[in-house]
Amino acid sequence: MRRRLVAGNWKMFGSNARNQLLLEGLASRAGGLEGVSCAVCVPFPYLHQAQSVLSESGVAWGAQNASQWPEGAYTGEVAVPMLADFGCQYVIVGHSERRSLFHEDDQLVGAKAKAVLEHGMTPIVCVGESLQEREAGVTESVVSRQLDAVIAEIGTEGLDKSVVAYEPVWAIGTGKTATPDEAQAVHLFLRHAVSARNADVGERLTMLYGGSVKAANAQSLFGMDDIDGGLIGGASLKLDEFMAICEAAIA
Ligand code: PGA
Repeated sequence: MRRRLVAGNWKMFGSNARNQLLLEGLASRAGGLEGVSCAVCVPFPYLHQAQSVLSESGVAWGAQNASQWPEGAYTGEVAVPMLADFGCQYVIVGHSERRSLFHEDDQLVGAKAKAVLEHGMTPIVCVGESLQEREAGVTESVVSRQLDAVIAEIGTEGLDKSVVAYEPVWAIGTGKTATPDEAQAVHLFLRHAVSARNADVGERLTMLYGGSVKAANAQSLFGMDDIDGGLIGGASLKLDEFMAICEAAIA
């Protein structure tokens, strides 16, 4: 059976006071769910807070981005080894907001995934098509191009230590979720694409769905054969809502 994971993506939200309540709630409620790992990817300044509250809780934490370079004169950037200093287990790479707002291309996303793996952490590699691309019928070619660029950098061995998140751009933060069948179809396509390179890696790969996942739709999404959990934005900021989503991933 594949590993199940529900990861929160807090984006650029939070404050010391608000985080403390949320993290303490997660520490007491989300660590021991049977067969489901829970994680939160927090803004950089709050990594220390996440580490101090979540250590030994069974809930993992991570970052939402990282530089592809290990160190250097790159003002404003954060390097992967710095994330390791704060005990991160996960780093999101290639989120569509980074691709579209900060012009990250496929090759850069691959380089970031490689840097994360080199420091023993798990990249959560995001892929997904825009509304225009879906309407033009090119969803499969877009997500395979995005995934191929990452595999070109990390190989199938690297992918075996990664998590893939399918996040259709038109479903992120819009309240418009892909139907379970729509999401499953893309997950199955991606799994087949990976299996064609290495059947074992394809079978083992944990693939998350992301885009307006809520307590109300989580179970039907996570019930699909090739959806192994979720990457949760807005709903990860509300403790009860996020907990219900984590519980919906219990197989
Ligand atoms: P959303 O975001 O759940 O708020 O749609 C998901 C994401 O961006 O990872």
